[in-house]
Amino acid sequence: MDKIVSLCRRRGFIYPSSEIYGGLSSCWDYGHLGVELKRNIKQAWWQAVVQERDDIVGLDTSILMHPEVWAASGHLEGFVDPLVECKSCHLRWRSDDLEDSNCPSCGGELTEPRLFNLMFKTFMGPVEEEANIVYLRPETAQGMFVNFQNVLNTTRKKLPFGIAQIGKAFRNEITTGNFIFRSREFEQMEIEFFVKPGTDEEWFNYWLEERLNWYVKLGIKRENLQLRQHLKGELAHYARACFDINYLFPMGWAELEGIANRGDFDLVQHAKYSGKSLSYFDEETKEQITPYIIEPSAGVDRSALAFLCDAYDEEPDKEEIRVLLHLHPSLAPIKVAVLPLSKRENLVAVAKQIYTDLRQCWMVQYDDAQSVGRRYRRQDEIGTPFCVTVDFQSLEDNQVTIRERDTMNQIRVSVSELKATLQAKLEGEDLFILPPGGKIWKEEKRGV
Ligand code: GAP
Repeated sequence: MDKIVSLCRRRGFIYPSSEIYGGLSSCWDYGHLGVELKRNIKQAWWQAVVQERDDIVGLDTSILMHPEVWAASGHLEGFVDPLVECKSCHLRWRSDDLEDSNCPSCGGELTEPRLFNLMFKTFMGPVEEEANIVYLRPETAQGMFVNFQNVLNTTRKKLPFGIAQIGKAFRNEITTGNFIFRSREFEQMEIEFFVKPGTDEEWFNYWLEERLNWYVKLGIKRENLQLRQHLKGELAHYARACFDINYLFPMGWAELEGIANRGDFDLVQHAKYSGKSLSYFDEETKEQITPYIIEPSAGVDRSALAFLCDAYDEEPDKEEIRVLLHLHPSLAPIKVAVLPLSKRENLVAVAKQIYTDLRQCWMVQYDDAQSVGRRYRRQDEIGTPFCVTVDFQSLEDNQVTIRERDTMNQIRVSVSELKATLQAKLEGEDLFILPPGGKIWKEEKRGV
């Protein structure tokens, strides 16, 4: 984990929040490369669950919701951790995390456990009084439940169908740490999939497989993923069944995504508290029914950490070590780097033209500082799949070199074929399928 944290800081993926003031515990800021990585993860998720499907629609609901939502959802009562407080230093601890009966910080005596709600409270309007309390949402899910009728009426979807949402969630976590694994402000990617009661188990199994495959398709090694079933005693208050997709993080196996069968709990609760009908007219049976909900709930930040950990690699490189991220091209923050061999004016002009042209399609970096070898290493370290090198021969034959990150193999292609070639390679085509006039170029020497 230290290596990942250090790479993220050094290369501008992730910084501690408010660092110049000493940081804010368990809050993080994403730099240029981190924003791109997260954007790509969210885009890949949205493409898989909304764009390529007919049965899921998107939604973006507000973070602040009517306070009754949290009474109905059970969060006011049930979203709690049992905490003990040290009678001397007043630090609070999760009682189930403690091995000793004394305070881990000062050894002082501890109080009996008391329930502590994990939701952040704030006030709406100018007066800070009980009646104006609102909460920062601890999950995006509730926005989708309370909009069930709106979505149904406006999209005219039939069961089974789903709603998908990506957004921020906030939890006043007591046990934090492990970098962005558990923070107090994070982003979720959630689907609420509404099904006919009786078909819920089938859909539950379907979503387990779909979601597991999504991570594998984007490059996570299958052996680093496992499914873990929640035991009866650990199920959330709303869940009839739940599986975690666990990932082998550097600190051990831990939850990457949760997939729950929420039954009809949420729609029944919100109908009861709001007094509005949240039922569905089943045309087959001519009956009003309350759909069951299957919920695949993933974290953007946790996914980013898993993709980074899985992609991280070190290889011997002469006297040094080549650090590289084998990120899937669709997740890589920078898709292509354009590198002129020297800063000579005529080379720079060609390289800049290529850069201007390619950046209309992808995030592209231009780098002319230091040797080409160093520049390749810099791009390897941030996971850039392809480097395009412009050299003196390019001025004569109008061809450039494409160098691939993982194999370090190179091909030579004409500038007019460059965009189409990169497009095909970014979509997974073998580097050695050559465009017209293309040829295999030298292999970069590995310093083993
Ligand atoms: N709506 C269901 C729900 O929120 P959850 O298991 O509490 O379920 C779902 O959260 C996902 O959100 C987790 O699998 C994880 O990826 C992410 N997540 C939850 N708490 C987090 C935290 N404190 N920091 C970062 N990600 C978190």
